[in-house]
Amino acid sequence: MAHTISPGTLPVGVRTRLGESPWWDGDRLSWIDILGHRIHRCRLDGSELESLTTPAAPGFAIPTADGFVVGLPDGVHRVVDGAWRRTWQAPHDAARLRLNDGKTDPSGRLWFGSMTYDETTPDAALYREDASGVTRVLDGVTTSNGLGWSPAGTTLYYSDSPLRTTWAFDHDPVTGDLSHRRPFAIDPPGQFPDGLTVDADGYVWSAKWQGGRIVRYAPDGRIDTVVEVPVVRPTSLAWVGPDRSTLAVTTAAPQDANLAHELDGAVLLIPTATSGPVLPLPTP
Ligand code: BGC
Ligand code: CA
Repeated sequence: MAHTISPGTLPVGVRTRLGESPWWDGDRLSWIDILGHRIHRCRLDGSELESLTTPAAPGFAIPTADGFVVGLPDGVHRVVDGAWRRTWQAPHDAARLRLNDGKTDPSGRLWFGSMTYDETTPDAALYREDASGVTRVLDGVTTSNGLGWSPAGTTLYYSDSPLRTTWAFDHDPVTGDLSHRRPFAIDPPGQFPDGLTVDADGYVWSAKWQGGRIVRYAPDGRIDTVVEVPVVRPTSLAWVGPDRSTLAVTTAAPQDANLAHELDGAVLLIPTATSGPVLPLPTP
């Protein structure tokens, strides 16, 4: 079922060039501007807006008890009261690769990936951080992007954008180990899977970069719903609000000015008939 919507928007004056990493902490929504080097946070009515400048392009920012954990091109950093500290150095050439999307799994382990700036060379990777440090879990990645777990934590969904592929893996919720990799969804040419999130029914919502749509998949990979949005580059999604039934969707400006829309760079708010989980803060 496909339908076009006129979404609400987060009522703030902020517009991102490349919005990403929306995160709901129960009270406030945070999101980033990768190209604008910013982390923003406010309440859903737009009040209490605060913005933090990052020292380089952030790929993700996730709130912690006292600040944020942030993926910068050269590794993972923690920022507390404006003081930045690198807690893990990426083993890549930060001139050619940078960190991209990151998320916590249901146990609070931090997962994040890298991407090649050219988005064609498969030199990037997926990493997992837990109490014992950072493990490289996958190689041969081109643009590491959306991450999300089934409600029981036994399946990981994961997108590599230029391959137009979202994979499913069996995920051991105790150890974090992955096995049984299989394609879950493949997009048509010209559309790329960016951020994703899983709802309480185990259905997967995927933002389609260049596709101007959010697609909801059943756990068997069947397309359940297509929500067409007015912007061509929706990038990532988070469940927000008191009952977490609204999707907050970050957006980016298109490369082609002919595809520009007044909502480019806004955070879209889309009510749904379902809801999503509370994502844990990172544990280490
Ligand atoms: C990245 C962009 C990339 C896009 C599509 C986003 O997550 O931050 O740099 O172009 O995905 O692959
Ligand atoms: Ca992304």
